[in-house]
Amino acid sequence: MNDVAIDGQPIVRARDIEKRFGDLLVLDGIDLELCEGQVISLLGPSGSGKSTLLRCINMLETIDSGEIWYRSELLGFRQRDDRYYPLGEKRKARQRTHFGMVFQQFNLFPHLTALENVCEGLRIVLGQSRAVAAERGRYLLDRVGLAEKADQYPSMLSGGQQQRVAIARALAPKPSVMLFDEPTSALDPELVGEVLDVIRELAESGMTMLIVTHEMNFAREVSDSVALLDHGRIVEFGPPDLVLTDPQSERAKAFVNAMKRK
Ligand SMILES: Nc1ncnc2c1ncn2[C@@H]1O[C@H](COP(=O)(O)OP(=O)(O)O)[C@@H](O)[C@H]1O
Ligand SMILES: [Mg+2]
Repeated sequence: MNDVAIDGQPIVRARDIEKRFGDLLVLDGIDLELCEGQVISLLGPSGSGKSTLLRCINMLETIDSGEIWYRSELLGFRQRDDRYYPLGEKRKARQRTHFGMVFQQFNLFPHLTALENVCEGLRIVLGQSRAVAAERGRYLLDRVGLAEKADQYPSMLSGGQQQRVAIARALAPKPSVMLFDEPTSALDPELVGEVLDVIRELAESGMTMLIVTHEMNFAREVSDSVALLDHGRIVEFGPPDLVLTDPQSERAKAFVNAMKRK
């Protein structure tokens, strides 16, 4: 946690988001504000819509109604009068540079070294020179504690190390907001800590983050607020100590108790 959030401006604002897959209403009126420097954790049972919400913010999915704003920029659409026109892929790709996303599966390129994985996007998408990209890449690998692994291929790295490379890769283009979707769920238990340490340090450095996680203690420690999702709705929202200690609704109580038993 940090003090920036107290007088921070909303940097991401989701207003009454609905998302369907066919007949299934997956997000059912989500309102969420993420302020600069703030960390919000999203918790909730499997299938409650957590990944879909992150994917909608990052425009990997198109929302059916509502609006998502990055500062004063409407994401994914251009609005004229009362109508919304979807943006083309190029515009969306530009908007997507506000966000860095880290998935459960690290998805590193197996034929590229750790350093090349971090630099690839800088060179291909941002057109940076090899030297400039490499300097940023080495800085970030050092930041995630992997300076000495720069020239190793993913197959030589543990799952925890691969995920730290994926975090460095997501940070490379200097996103304003980091989105984490269960970043430790694919890891052996003994490797979870090193990845959480990196995310914790990011939080302490003032990075604005939305984190989907099942790590209750971690969520409690790093989050300014916790949102509990159920069936596509935010059923509880507030400071972690309140939501995770004394949830109000029956659904939330059941979920929190089940998480504690894990
Ligand atoms: N691309 C998709 N097509 C159809 N249904 C989907 C798709 N993605 C997710 N869903 C469904 O949407 C619901 C929410 O999924 P998801 O956002 O992945 O939940 P969570 O991340 O909370 O586990 C689930 O019922 C899931 O099966
Ligand atoms: Mg998910």
